[in-house]
Amino acid sequence: MGIKLGILGLGTVGTGTVQLLQDNIGRHSLLQLVEIYRVGVKSLDKPRDVTLPQSVLTTDLESIVNDPEVDIVVELIGGLEPARELILKAIQNGKHVVTANKAVISRFGTEIFTSANRQGVYVMLEAAVGGGIPVIQPLKQSLSVNRIHTVTGIINGTTNYILTRMQTEGSSFDAVLADAQKLGYAEADPTADVDGWDAADKISILASLAFGGRINREEVSCEGIRQVSKTDITYANNLGFVIKLLAIAKKVSPTSSTLSVRVHPTLVPKTHPLASINGVYNAILVEGEPLGQVMFFGPGAGAGATASAVSSDILNLVARVGSSEAAPLDPLLGCSHQDYCQIAPQNELTARFYTRFLTLDQPGVIGKLGTSFGQHGVSLESIVQTGFQDKLAEIVVVTHDVLEGDFKQALEEIRSFEAIHSIPSLLRVL
Ligand code: HSE
Repeated sequence: MGIKLGILGLGTVGTGTVQLLQDNIGRHSLLQLVEIYRVGVKSLDKPRDVTLPQSVLTTDLESIVNDPEVDIVVELIGGLEPARELILKAIQNGKHVVTANKAVISRFGTEIFTSANRQGVYVMLEAAVGGGIPVIQPLKQSLSVNRIHTVTGIINGTTNYILTRMQTEGSSFDAVLADAQKLGYAEADPTADVDGWDAADKISILASLAFGGRINREEVSCEGIRQVSKTDITYANNLGFVIKLLAIAKKVSPTSSTLSVRVHPTLVPKTHPLASINGVYNAILVEGEPLGQVMFFGPGAGAGATASAVSSDILNLVARVGSSEAAPLDPLLGCSHQDYCQIAPQNELTARFYTRFLTLDQPGVIGKLGTSFGQHGVSLESIVQTGFQDKLAEIVVVTHDVLEGDFKQALEEIRSFEAIHSIPSLLRVL
């Protein structure tokens, strides 16, 4: 007897998943047990790239999660509602769930996993982070014997594509974004991607798995790439860096369980493994003891890649649904986190900073900058003045690791100096 899937959504990922499952020869033989039983869509008349019997399609998504015949609900509609409600109903009805929905999981994970544990069902989410890259299962299983201290990711393809093109072509953010939208690499409303929200959802999920606790999504600080200018990309390049939107989750110190979880554009040394991840690709670098560094790299989006991740979750469930439904939840597959991780306030963290100042070109300005930073305990790695913009001198400062609060206080003082025209950029350095 087949394992019956109820798929919610037949967009790019839903279509890719149905195509993969229908074309199962040469893949794992367990996939042959899968039956695409119901598929929920918005419109029955829309032309599609898959052939499904008309009786499989329905616009009544609730009927799928309430159908006693359905074993696994595969949620691929995205967005917060009705996805959250449908997932919860499926769980309440005793169904396992596979989802690619990072927004729902990062915001409502507590509610969803508490309910899933109570009902003895799994909620699988390999496709929610990194598209086709296997990173959720490795964090749950293969890497879980390590003491992980840092997870650093390029986990948003749209922003990596934009930054890569700005870097290689010397173009502005607005010009590349407009072109990316024309080419289908950026959404018509690019907010979730370019403002870092998508990456923040994903790093919340990765942090939760890596550090074994729940993450309050509201505590994840998030800064996007709109303010990254081609001038900064050029300066960064000359100083030996590329600018990437990094999502970082790390222990604030080796002995502490407190985390720093954040997303921001970052100057990455050209020698760092993440510096060479370009275009729409994603990569996640996991660091821990005793393993050291391991990096996952691959396509972070796209129909086939994401379908691979969705189907691997389906496969994992098919293996279990087929055996004994009464078996207790496998702790390496389910979610057993009960407590929230503590997240450190941004001001108490240490970081390296890159700042660009526009100043009057007069004697003593660099000296005053250096003195103010020094008085606030901010140690500088380099300070250069190479260019002019409209008769204003352009001064670029890179700090050593400093307390963010000290750095911000120094900047406040410097901002009040008469010779300072403006501070157009403030970026972090890895
Ligand atoms: N919008 C995402 C990105 C793809 O640009 O990476 C799906 O997570």
